[in-house]
Formats: sequence, structure tokens, C-alpha cells
Amino acid sequence: MPVTYDHSYVEDFASGAGVLAPRAWLDDDSERISLTGEWSFRLSPSLADAPDDLKDPDTSSWDTISVPGHWQLSGYGAPAYTNVVYPFPLEPPHVPTANPTGDYVRTVEVPADWDGSRVVLRFEGVDSRFSVHVDGNLIGWSSGSRLPSEFDLTSLAAPGKEIRIVVRVHQWSAGSYVEDQDMWWLSGIFREVNLLALKPSAPTDVFVHASYADGAGVVKVDSDVPATVVVPELGLEFPTGFETPVPAVEPWSAESPRLYDAVVRSDGGEVRLRIGFRTIAIADGVLTVNGNRVLFNGVNRHEFHPDRGRALTDQDMLDDVLLMKQAGINAVRTSHYPPHPHFLDLCDLHGLYVVDECDLETHGFGYEPEPPNLPNPVMDERFRADLVERMRRMVERDKNHPSIVLWSLGNECGMGDNLRAMYEFAHDRDPSRPVHYERDTHAEFVDVYSQMYTSPEDVAAIGEDVSSYRGLPFILCEYGHAMGNGPGGLSEYRALFEKYPRCQGGFIWEWIDHGLRTVVDGKEFYAYGGDFGETIHDGNFVCDGLLFPDRTPSPGMLEYIKVIEPLVIVADSNGGIAITNRYEVLDTSHLVFTIVTEVQGERVGSGNLSVPPIAPGETVAVELPPGLIEQQAQNRPETWLTVVAELADGTAWAEAGHRVAWGQVRLDQPVQARHVGARAGEDGAGGEQTGAVERLAAEGGLGAEDGLGAVDGLGAEVAAAVGARHARAENAGDDISAGVLGIDVGSLGVRNLRLDVWRAPIDNDAIPGVADAWKEAGLHRVQHRVVSAGVADGAWEIVTRTAPPALQWGLVATWRWTHGQDGSVVLDLSVEPDGQYPATLPRLGITFELPTVSSVEWFGAGPGEAYVDTRAAAAVGKYSATVDQLQTPYVRPQENGHRIDTRWAVLAAARPLRIEAAPDLFGLTVRNWSTAALEQAKHTPDLVPGDTTYVTLDLAQSGIGSNSCGPALPDNYKLHTAPASLSLRFS
Ligand code: GAL
Ligand code: MG
Repeated sequence: MPVTYDHSYVEDFASGAGVLAPRAWLDDDSERISLTGEWSFRLSPSLADAPDDLKDPDTSSWDTISVPGHWQLSGYGAPAYTNVVYPFPLEPPHVPTANPTGDYVRTVEVPADWDGSRVVLRFEGVDSRFSVHVDGNLIGWSSGSRLPSEFDLTSLAAPGKEIRIVVRVHQWSAGSYVEDQDMWWLSGIFREVNLLALKPSAPTDVFVHASYADGAGVVKVDSDVPATVVVPELGLEFPTGFETPVPAVEPWSAESPRLYDAVVRSDGGEVRLRIGFRTIAIADGVLTVNGNRVLFNGVNRHEFHPDRGRALTDQDMLDDVLLMKQAGINAVRTSHYPPHPHFLDLCDLHGLYVVDECDLETHGFGYEPEPPNLPNPVMDERFRADLVERMRRMVERDKNHPSIVLWSLGNECGMGDNLRAMYEFAHDRDPSRPVHYERDTHAEFVDVYSQMYTSPEDVAAIGEDVSSYRGLPFILCEYGHAMGNGPGGLSEYRALFEKYPRCQGGFIWEWIDHGLRTVVDGKEFYAYGGDFGETIHDGNFVCDGLLFPDRTPSPGMLEYIKVIEPLVIVADSNGGIAITNRYEVLDTSHLVFTIVTEVQGERVGSGNLSVPPIAPGETVAVELPPGLIEQQAQNRPETWLTVVAELADGTAWAEAGHRVAWGQVRLDQPVQARHVGARAGEDGAGGEQTGAVERLAAEGGLGAEDGLGAVDGLGAEVAAAVGARHARAENAGDDISAGVLGIDVGSLGVRNLRLDVWRAPIDNDAIPGVADAWKEAGLHRVQHRVVSAGVADGAWEIVTRTAPPALQWGLVATWRWTHGQDGSVVLDLSVEPDGQYPATLPRLGITFELPTVSSVEWFGAGPGEAYVDTRAAAAVGKYSATVDQLQTPYVRPQENGHRIDTRWAVLAAARPLRIEAAPDLFGLTVRNWSTAALEQAKHTPDLVPGDTTYVTLDLAQSGIGSNSCGPALPDNYKLHTAPASLSLRFS
């Protein structure tokens, strides 16, 4: 295609002009000059404003900008976020006249010794379309933001001469129509630029084919010039283009990423390769690597840094890979574009399976547009050449990475013949890797079947019906939407991936929150959609990662780590423990096991546990050391054994001692949850043996036979003499007054104690409208009425009715107060719903206020927040934290910080307060702001501690789920409205 000299290329359907054919990203010995660093820069608000001076621009008045980078993050224009919708009218290939245009200029001297070489200017990524001018000559243009482009400058770049490179970058182009990924719109030269000297007879494109079976390999390297391949470690030397058997070789896999250094050498130069021998196959509907079934414990990764956007440093990429490896993640889908090629090198080296996805999404067109709507670009023939070229550019660039196990055509485009053409290209060019595309809902031209956000029931149905969808392996290319507080329910998915061979795991959406670090009025926070004044945006939907923007793990990440950990350590029926190895190829000989015993949270013993090497997929029973068996007696104080598996030696991705798996086994008689009824999380997986023992709808009061030993509640009081009871009850009455809003317990400093049914909606409540339904039921604005107060049955009894304005339902609570012998105050609370009450509640608890609390110590599940369906990572123990540390700083503030299954807690304040449940467990939340303040906050600095601490003790709280983009919260994790009770001792 001829080079055009006007700007019509901005709206051209093609990929580019004057661009060299795509080739592999190579580590070769060609000389190169990095053009990273400062370039002169000018931004024009529209193409019409952009001066027509590219032949010889006078840059003396221009600013400079760092390359790589995005201009919106360098002081020009502003980031904008949309998920599905395009921020401009849909009329391909046209784009708005107000099309910000960035001009970049720099000079470079072509070294004198480049004589005889082909001089190539290479861009690794420019968003979205750009033209290149050298010394006044238009060289060409290219698009495909996350794909490389090369231009031949040989005729202009004489050795020893200084050349001036001018790059004009357009924010919008016809290419923007196929780059509608859910992320910030960010423009500019955001990956490196290099000037290369390619020697005439050096290999410039090679394709490694290295397979593995039964201990042996076969290797072949294709090259654009004849060359010799040397693999010193294997003693191999063979010509390019020939298949060479390798009698004994170690395979590459994510768990054991064995690479062999190789060199492809010709007269002109050499290319260094790292060869991984591995074979990807689909047999009997199961995807295998080297014959082993793969279970993807994956994540979707966008390239993101809170300051740099998608312009990542090598260190950022390494951080991602090491964090993934340390988490036990074994796979990454490069949603929804090819990543920086260095990232793929790191995946080869450290061991991650990669689904390499093409730079393609057209979500905003809708999947099945009917006339008069425009066809989706994947159906529109005018886009075909560009789309196939995008696939070609990705496959050619990335074909030598053993880590890539699947090619992916793109994301969320619906179906169209252009996709079929992309599939055919990939299949012909590289038959060794299966192809993925999720929106091929009938599996017409994919090699693995894929869905996103499928409910566990539907995953199970696909698992059962092995011949559906052409019998292909099934993956969830997205699930577990990690937006805000969540995702919940991951354990259920894991169980299905283990149960059904064709259900081969999935990829959490997504790796990291894309919050942009922003400072307003001296306060730093992470910005999301709308914060830069966008007229059309999707708010905080851009913050849905397992990591916070600064790459610290969110509770969702810790939960995922636990759910996917490679060993399962549980109690076995013989009083010992059972350890199952879930690795694909590794046995457990690289791990050491330690144990710790704690009685009521106090460490009483520790040591090593000897575990024989366990083969992949095997389970062994391990006996406990004799001393521990004695602990397993009835009626002991609550005693837990924690088993930890750690790396014996350091690896490339973690130090010796890195925790790989853990499990807890209760050694004394577990607490019996004595009552049946609606309980959030009754059937939840992953809980401790006691389950969620919020005791709702209690029958029969308290018994003295409870196993906890610490039980000393109202039941014992009932046995006391009637006179004493009354004395204590009246006494309690002196202390406890029923105020207008709530109850005050004077001696404890507790103020305004009332029933609480509201939580600041999490994204999984707010986005699907669950919170709206709760608001319709008035749950966010209940009022409290004291029905009666007086001595009754040996207790000071206050009856309240909590109900919303304008509606006719309510919760009648009976608060029975007594003084314990030890001066403690005992509350026996029971709650009965009346009228047409809502079927579910966000929470059922009591909230009270205290003067500022500094820190909290508690015995229960921890150390992090946990809810009924996000509790896998919580271990029973004794913990302490400041109130600040108890908060989880979700980018958009929302319910957080709940500690499930608390036995007791001590709040450190001017007058310390101890709260103990007997025999129940309660959910503990302590904050220095109210739920209303939490709900109103848009960003973390909106939350300002006052002089009051708000304490909520939950009988139960609704689960978390994944419903901001996923299935509804399962019934067993909902909090169904029902009679409930809880006993607490305050002292
Ligand atoms: C999916 C999409 C992702 C992201 C996610 C929601 O439908 O593929 O790109 O938008 O939803 O966060
Ligand atoms: Mg989308």
C-alpha cells in the first residue's frame, strides 16, 4: 500500500503502510540505540490544530516528554475510563475532529560502524496510531497499540549522520474501533523505541519448535537465513530447518520451567534462545502439557501501574511475575492485548502458562447487531485485513515463548468471519498451540471452549455433559470478579475444577486495580472513572483487581492464594492429618513442614513434621507426634494445630521459608452448633469445623455443657437463687438505660447500642441492585422504638422494635441484661422479625459507640477480614491490630474489615472493654467512622476518624459473592431473615 502524505490514514481501515513484515522478538547481537528518554513534545487538541510542519518542526518552544509514557499521565490532557461504551460516536472509520494529536521529535546519530547494516526503527507500542517522519520524509504509519511496528530507514540513515525522527501520534483512529478494552484510554508512545542495525546475513526471524514426550524431545528451529543451532547443555549442533531428536531432556512446565540456552548462529550474527521443550495436546477433551492435565489457577492481567499506566518498567513486570509465583498462580491471560514482550520472557523463566490475547475488543458494538445498527467490526469485511494482521503480528512476535500455551483471538467482539480468518491464520502458522476465543459460544472455531462468570451450577453442567461443545476442554477465561470487597465463593469453583476433568480452571478477573495515584488538596488517593471530569465513564469498575493499585494484596488475593494452594492439609479420620499434593509435576520434596500448637490462641508447642515425599495427585496420612495426640481429648480448652509447608530452599521467585500451603486441625472437641435455622454460609466450603456458628433462631436457651470451657453465661445465672437474680437484674437496670436511639451501658462506656441491619454496600451489593432492593425495604434507615424496659425473669429486660419509616415490618429485639458474679454484664439478645419483612438482610448485628479505641486484640479467625464465603484464608488464632489496620482500603470505600468467628475481643480504650461470646461466635467490626460515613465516601481520604469508635458485633452477615459482574450470591451465603439470638459478656 502506498504511503499517503495527508492525514487520511487516521481513518484508514488498514493496519499501516510502509511497515516491515512482523517477526519474532529476539535477543540477538544486532547493535541498537535505545530511544528511551526525553523527546521534544507538543500536544494539539485536534488534528486541525496540529501544525503542518512535520517536515522540519521548530521545537525550540516545545516541552519535553519521557518515552515510554502516556501523555495523559505526563501533564497533557486527562485519562478517561469506559468499560463497554466507546467515548465517541460509532461511525467507523470516523473519529472526532477533536482528536488529540501528539508530536514527538528527537535526533539520533547513526553510528559510523553501522555501514552495511539495515537500519530499522522499531516501536514496541504506540497508542493508537502514528506516522513516522525522518528528515522531512514520511516513512509510513502504523496502528495496533499493543503491537510492534518496524520501519526501514536504511536509505535515510547514512552511517555517521544525525537523523531527526518526528512521530505524530493520534489519540483516536479507525483502530480505536477494535481497541475497546475495559481500561483507561491512554495515548502516546508507551513502550520502547529502538534504532536497530540488522546485519545482512544475520538471522532476524526464527521459529523454535521444541516438543517433549516420555523423557525425550524433538527440536527444530526455522530461520530466515540458514544458520546453525547450538545447544551446549545438550551437546547439540544442528542446522536450522531440520528436526533433531533429543534423546534425553527435561520438559518445561509452569511448575518446573526448565529452559536450555541455545544460539542460532550464521556468518552475519547470532540469536540467543531459551528453549523449553513441551507439548500441548488435547486428548479426550482434556488439555495437557507434556501429557499432564493442566488446571489453570490463573489471573487476567492488564498492564498497569498507578503512576505509569500501561508503560511498565522491567521491574513492574518482574514484580507481577514474582507476586504471581509466590501466590501459587500458574497461569495468566494477557487481557486483552499482547503484553510487553519482556513479560513473556519472565513467564518462560519463572514458569507461568500464558494465554496470549490479541489486541482486539469491540464490546461497545454489541454482540449481535441487527440492521439498522452497524455490524460489529469483526463482521465488517473492511476490518478483516487489519484484524488478521493483528493476529499475525502477535503470533510472529511471540511464537518462541514456551510459556504461551494458547493463542486468544481477542475479547468480547461477538462472532464474525474476521475472527474465523484470524483463527485460520493462527492455526496454519502455529499448529502447536490451541486457539481460544470466549465469545464463540457454540465452539465453532476454537480449540478450547470458554465462558466467563459462569455460575458453579452451570460449570458443573458443562463438566457433566462431556460431549457438549464438541467435547472440548472448558475454561473460565474470567471468573471471580475481584471488584472491591471480594470475590467470594472461590472454593466452590476449585472443587468443580477438581471434580470434572474437562473443567480446567480459570482466570480471576482481574490482577490489579487500575486506580491512578492522584493528589488533591494534599491528600493522595487512587482515582477511577469520573475523577477526571469524563462526561461518559464507568466509575470504579476499573478497580476490580486482586491487588490494590500499589500491588499490595487485597483480601481477595489472600483468599485466592489459599483456595489454589498446591497442598490440601486436613484432619483425617484416624486422628492424624491427610496431605494431598495438587501439583501437576512436582512432588513435595522441595517443602519442609512445621507444626504449631495453640491453646486458646497461646502457643504451647512447635516443631517439625516429617512428611514423606508425596507424588503429584497423591494423598498421604501423616501421624501426629505423640504429645499432640494427648491434646485430642474431650473438654480441653480450644486447641488448634497449624501445619505449614514452606520452601526448603530459595527459588528464583521466592526465598527459603516462603509459605506454600497450610492447614489447621482442631485438637479438642469442637464447639457444637446446637441449633438449626437460617444461617449465612451454613453449607459453605472452606470453613473451620465449627462453621459459621452465628446462632440464629435459638431454641432452648443456653446449656452448661458447652465445650468451650469459658462458657459462663446466662444459663448459669438461671440456676442461681431467684432473689440474687433480681438483685443483679435491678443492678443492671441502674447501669443500662434505654435511650432514644439505643441503649447505654454506663459502666462500660458503651453508648447508643442498637440493632444494626445495614452495611455500606459493597460493589457486589450496589451494582446488581441488591442494595437497591434492601433500600426499598428501608434497611438503610431503620428507626428504633423502646417497647418496654423493666425486670423480667431475673434480668433487666428491654424490648425494642427496629423498623423503617413508612413500612409495616420490623425486628423485635429482646435485650436481657444481668450482672455476672465477676462484675461483668451479660447480654442475652433475641430477635424476631414481624410483618412483611424482607427475605434477606445485609447483616444482623448490634452496633455501639465508644470513645476512641486505639487497638483490638481478639481470638477468632484472622488475621485478615473474612466473610462467610471469603474465609478460606482466615486461621483461628489470637491476633491484635490497631483500628486503622483493621480497615481494608478498597479504592471505593465500602463494607470491609469484618472478622468472622470471633470468640472474644478486647478493645483498648481509656476504659478497656472485653467482649466474649458464649457459646456463640460473632463477627467483629471496629471503625473510627460510622457506616453512613463509609457509605458516602468516594475515596479513602473522605474517611476521617472522629472521637468515636463504632463497634459492630454481627450475629451474621451476608456473603460477598461476585455479583458486580457474575452470578448472584448463592442462597447458602445469603443472610435469610429469621429469628436469631446471641449471648455476649461484656467486662
Ligand atoms: C468482562 C470483560 C473484562 C471486564 C470485565 C468486568 O466482561 O471481558 O474486560 O470488562 O468484564 O470487569
Ligand atoms: Mg468488555
